[in-house]
Amino acid sequence: MKKLVNLTLLGAALLTGGYMLAEETARPIYLDESKPLEERVEDALSRMTLAEKVGIIHAQSKFSSPGVQRLGIPGIWCTDGPHGIRPDVLWDEWEQAGATNDSCVAFPALTCLAATWNPDMALLYGKSIGEEARYRNKNVLLGPGVNIYRTPLNGRNFEYMGEDPLLASRIVVPYVKGVQENGVAACVKHYALNNQEVDRDHVDVRVDDRTLHEIYLPAFKAAVIDGGAWSIMPGYNKYDGEHACENHTLLLDILKGDWGFDGVTISDWGAVHNTEKVASNGLDMEFGSWTNGLNWGASNAYDDYYLAKPYQKLLEEGKLPIADLDDKARRVLRLIMRTEMDRNRPYGSLNSDEHYDAARRIGGEGIVLLKNEDNLLPLLSDKVKKVLVVGENAIKMMTVGGGSSSLKVQRETLPLDGIRKLAAEKGIEVVYERGYVGDVTGEYNGVTTGQDLNDSRSPEQLIADAVKAAREADAVIFIGGLNKSDHQDAEGVDRRQYSLPYGQDDVISALANANPNLIVMGLTGNAYAMPWLDKVPAVVQGWYIGSEAGNALADVVFGDVNPSGKLPMTFAVALEDYAPHAAADQEMYPGKDGIVKYKEGLGVGYRHTDRLKPSRVNFPFGHGLSYTSFKLGKPGITQNGDSVTLRVPVTNTGKRAGSEVVQVYVSDRKSSVERPEKELKGFAKVSVEPGETVEAVIKLGKEAFAFYDPNSNLWTVEPGDFELLVGNSSRNITSRNRITLHDSITWSDAVK
Ligand code: BGC
Repeated sequence: MKKLVNLTLLGAALLTGGYMLAEETARPIYLDESKPLEERVEDALSRMTLAEKVGIIHAQSKFSSPGVQRLGIPGIWCTDGPHGIRPDVLWDEWEQAGATNDSCVAFPALTCLAATWNPDMALLYGKSIGEEARYRNKNVLLGPGVNIYRTPLNGRNFEYMGEDPLLASRIVVPYVKGVQENGVAACVKHYALNNQEVDRDHVDVRVDDRTLHEIYLPAFKAAVIDGGAWSIMPGYNKYDGEHACENHTLLLDILKGDWGFDGVTISDWGAVHNTEKVASNGLDMEFGSWTNGLNWGASNAYDDYYLAKPYQKLLEEGKLPIADLDDKARRVLRLIMRTEMDRNRPYGSLNSDEHYDAARRIGGEGIVLLKNEDNLLPLLSDKVKKVLVVGENAIKMMTVGGGSSSLKVQRETLPLDGIRKLAAEKGIEVVYERGYVGDVTGEYNGVTTGQDLNDSRSPEQLIADAVKAAREADAVIFIGGLNKSDHQDAEGVDRRQYSLPYGQDDVISALANANPNLIVMGLTGNAYAMPWLDKVPAVVQGWYIGSEAGNALADVVFGDVNPSGKLPMTFAVALEDYAPHAAADQEMYPGKDGIVKYKEGLGVGYRHTDRLKPSRVNFPFGHGLSYTSFKLGKPGITQNGDSVTLRVPVTNTGKRAGSEVVQVYVSDRKSSVERPEKELKGFAKVSVEPGETVEAVIKLGKEAFAFYDPNSNLWTVEPGDFELLVGNSSRNITSRNRITLHDSITWSDAVK
C-alpha cells in the first residue's frame, strides 16, 4: 500500500513539473483530480502561508510566475499572443533567449480572422494556436484582443476583430474555446477601452454608460460568459479616472460581479501603479512592472512589485484584508489546476502540417475582394501570360515587427514567392519591380528577418522602372500597404495619417496609367485612403496573413480559392468620415490634458458612416465580393415569443461554388432613446454550388432588440415594430422585413 501511495506522489510530482512533495503521506485533495475543482482549490489554499499566497500573484521573470514549490504546485508561463507563440526572451530581459526550438507558425492577424465571418475558422485558429502554446509549455496565451476599432489610426487594430461588437463576440468565443481545449488559458485583452496607442499608459477614457455596454464591453462579456475565458488582461489606459488595473467598476462591479468571472485578471505588462488600489479593486496578478519602488527600469525587481513585498507588508500590518489576497490566490490556483495541473490535457504540437494548413485556409477565407471590375480577377492563363508584381510588401517578411505580437517563424511564404509558385504551375510568367522603398530594417526585439531590402534607386527611378515593366505585362499586381513599422500598424504608436506611406499613391497612379489591368492589394490591419480608386479596376484587402501569406494570396489571385471574406470595419474615404475625427476635435482624439472623450457615443464605424452620403465610403462594413454571384431571396420569418428566426434563401447565380455571408441588421426607429440606424444582430455564412439555393438560418434572441438603459442598468426591449434588414453589407440591403414585438422586456447582466 505504502508503495502505491509513493507511486501516486511520484506521479503527482511529475505532473506538477517535477517538484517533489515534502513529507506527505496520503494523496492530498488538491492533487486528486477525481475531486471537484473548487474543493482542490480550497484545499491547496488552506495549506499555504501568507507569503506563499503573495508569491503566486506576481511575476518572477518577464513572462512567468512561481508556484508553491513546497506543495508541488507549478508556476505559470505566459506567452504572446495573439497570432503565434512568441519566441522566448531571457529571464529578466527583453533580449532573445536564443533558443533554437521556439520558432512557430504565424497565423493570420485577428483582423483577417474576423474578416472570415466564420466562427468555425475561429475555432480552428484557437485550437491550432493553443496546440502550439501547449507544446511550448505555455499555460497562458496573451490573446486574443477584442478592442473595438474606433479609429483607423489605432496602431494595434490589426490585433483586434474590427468595429462591430456582435462580430467580435461571435469570433472571440470559439477562439477562446479552441485555445482552452488544450489546457492553455486564453487571456482576453485589453480590458477595456484601449482603443488607441497614443498616451496609452495613462489616457483617461470618458464614455457614456450606454456606449460602454453596447459597443466596448460585449466582446469581453461574450468571451467570459459564452467562451468561459480563464483569464482577462486589464489594459494600460484609464477609464473614468482610474487605471484599468485598479478600476473598481470594470473589474469588480462588471467583470467579477455582473459577469461572474471566476478566472484571473492579469495586468498588462507594467500597467500597475499602486499597491492599495490594485489590491482592493480586483487585479489578481501583476506582470511587467519595472521598478523597485524607487527607480524605473530596475532589474530583478520582482520582490518589490506592487503585489509583492509592499502588499505583504500592508497585509501583515492588518491594513488590507486577507480575504482579498485569498480571492486572488484562489483564482490563480484555479488557473493552475485548469492548465498545468490538468493531467488529461493533450500534448500539443508545433509547426505541424495541420497548422500550416489552418493558417492558409483562414488566410484564404479572410482575404476580401473589394472591387473586381470586368472580372479582372482571378488571373487565368487563357487571359494573361505575363504578370508584373510591384511593391515592397510582396517581398518583405511581416511576421517580425509590430510589437508584442512579433514572431520568430519557422517559415514565411512571401507574397511574391507564393504568386510565382502558383503562376508557374499555371504557365504564367511573373516578373517583379520594387516600385517604392519603405522600411528596410527588418528587426524586432532581437529577431531579424535576415533580408536585405536596400535599394539605392531614387523614388522617380523606382516608379519609372515599374511603369516600364507594367507596359510590357498583361496584368499588374501592386502589393503594398502598411508594414508594422512604427506608425504603420504597430504597438505603442498610432498611425499619423490615413493615407498610405512611402509615396505609394504615386506609384499606384503611375501604374494605373501604364496598364489598365491593375490589381491593388493592401496588406494592412487598417483601412486607408484610396485616392486612385476610380482608376483601379481591382482591389483586394490582404491583411497580415503570417506564415502562409504568399500561398493564401496566390490562391485568391489565381482562383484556387474563391474569396468570401467580408470587411470587419468600414473603409471610409477620408479620416474625417470616422466619427472620432469628424470635428477635428482633439478632445475626441487623441485626447486633451490626458482625457479622451468618446463624444460620438454609439456612432462607431458603420453606425456613423451609414448616415453619411454613400460617396463618403469606399467600401462599407460587411462588404466583400466573390468570383461567383449570389441572390438573396425573401426571408421566411418565424416568431416565437421574443425570438425570431430568419430563413434566407441564397442562390448561387454564377458559375462556380462560393460562400456568402448573409447579414441581418436590426432597426428600431421608434424608440424612447436614440438608436443607430441599424445594427448587426446576426449573420450566417453558407456555401452554395452554382445554380443551387441554400437557406441561411439566422436566429435572433431578445438581445437583438435591446438597448442598455443607463438609468436602470437594465437591457431593455420596448414593444413595437422593428425592421430586420437582410443584406450582404451594411450598405447593401436586399430586403426589409417588419416584425412586431408585443412585450416589454428588461434584464440585467448580473448573473444569478
Ligand atoms: C502588450 C500586451 C502584451 C504584453 C506582454 C504589452 O506591452 O500591451 O498586449 O501581451 O506586453 O508582451
